[in-house]
Amino acid sequence: FKFIHLESITSTNDYAKELFFSEKVSNFVVIADTQTNGKTTKNSSPWQSPVGNLYMSMTIKLIPEIERFTHLLSFITALSLTEVVKDISPNANIKIKWPNDVLLNVKKLSGILIEKENDIIVIGIGVNILSSPKTNNIKYPTTSLKEAGIDIDKIKFAKLLTKKIIENLNNAIKTKFSSLIDDIKPYMYKINDTIYVDFNNEIIVGKFENLDINGGIIIKTNRETKTLLSGTLTKENFI
Ligand code: BTN
Repeated sequence: FKFIHLESITSTNDYAKELFFSEKVSNFVVIADTQTNGKTTKNSSPWQSPVGNLYMSMTIKLIPEIERFTHLLSFITALSLTEVVKDISPNANIKIKWPNDVLLNVKKLSGILIEKENDIIVIGIGVNILSSPKTNNIKYPTTSLKEAGIDIDKIKFAKLLTKKIIENLNNAIKTKFSSLIDDIKPYMYKINDTIYVDFNNEIIVGKFENLDINGGIIIKTNRETKTLLSGTLTKENFI
């Protein structure tokens, strides 16, 4: 993977896509020191991108072995990020909040945005290395590696993460993604516990029983057991 390091751009995901279309190359990583219009999973305000944190996008060619499993790439990314933090700081309290938020000390550490365009996949990752945005929303607090006492250079982190994603992706391809769910389970926030899922503005309460093979959540409510493929885990005490 070739690394391209820029000072300021609108969004590393957009830049990666443009670069792919103009140069017809994939397998590169774009890193920007800051973004003026970082994209998020919701169409809300841009991803806050102060200098010091990591904003990166990795492009991968959409080969047939991956095509059927693109919805699981966010799991690969979240798992890889979690493993990199564990490698640097083995005692870190790091969890994956379904579907793809990474929590450090129960606060959001990173954001993942995966986009598919024609025959490439862009894996966009923002990691709070030195600072985290102040949010007034106490429901979703944020943190940074630095706040948790973990010191690492963002470029070094980007390289470790790229390597880990490639490793995990190659393993997943070998097993047709069958072992991914088991690999990610030990890190799942609130698994076997009671969860509150905001599903199209309806709150579903139940026990987080398991992950299903497609990455959905299997929840046992007092009426039924069902699988949710989308939704947001919310904090119970704020409902
Ligand atoms: C989320 O909503 O949690 C996902 C946010 C993803 C932000 C990252 S920062 C690097 C990459 N480029 C973008 O424009 N967005 C992603």
